[in-house]
Amino acid sequence: MNTISSHYLDELGIIRWESRYAPQTAPVCDESAWENLKETVKHCRQCSLHQGRTNTVFGVGSQQASLMIIGEAPGFHEDQQGEPFVGRAGQLLTAMLKSIGLRREDVFIANILKCRPPDNRDPQADEIQTCTAFLTQQIALIQPDLLLAVGRIAAQYLLNCSSPLKSLRNTIHHYGESQTPLIVTYHPAYLLRSPADKKMAFSDLQFVRKKLSTAVR
Ligand code: URA
Repeated sequence: MNTISSHYLDELGIIRWESRYAPQTAPVCDESAWENLKETVKHCRQCSLHQGRTNTVFGVGSQQASLMIIGEAPGFHEDQQGEPFVGRAGQLLTAMLKSIGLRREDVFIANILKCRPPDNRDPQADEIQTCTAFLTQQIALIQPDLLLAVGRIAAQYLLNCSSPLKSLRNTIHHYGESQTPLIVTYHPAYLLRSPADKKMAFSDLQFVRKKLSTAVR
């Protein structure tokens, strides 16, 4: 509003509506630290998974994302293409995001592990321990408003617990020293096998949308 019209409103005794919130600005991701991290992941040989990989899978999306999605580990297609969630489960994840008005490029998608475990087996404790140093740095650099853990492996690692996934839903948890809010939902690969639970995942996504709408950046 310009100063002239502002003056007339003052004269008329009309109180202007002003947002109580500061203008939204995303934290600035340190570009050189990000590129260094990407390069380190690309050449990582810290565990035996490097022997079977075609590509490392660093993650994809916006470094300014307010929502970061954390899955488990690359599968066959992700290993081939070097991008997370591009197979059937990935297509479902993209549709899940679309249901709350988000595109893949609006969020950042990463995994607990950056390399594919053989035959898509569960990540082993030593692999998780080694590889998650990268994820920790990604979260610290992006500083998202909200983390969405998809599936048991990601949820249990991020929350340092062994509770069943079902019991972790419908709650705002907090991750790490930053106390970043965290929501848990089903893994899309599980939902492909158990489509009856899609409605519960949809309700988790509504919860995500609500939480994001109140996040002040
Ligand atoms: N499942 C995951 O957890 N991550 C992927 O990137 C693909 C499938």
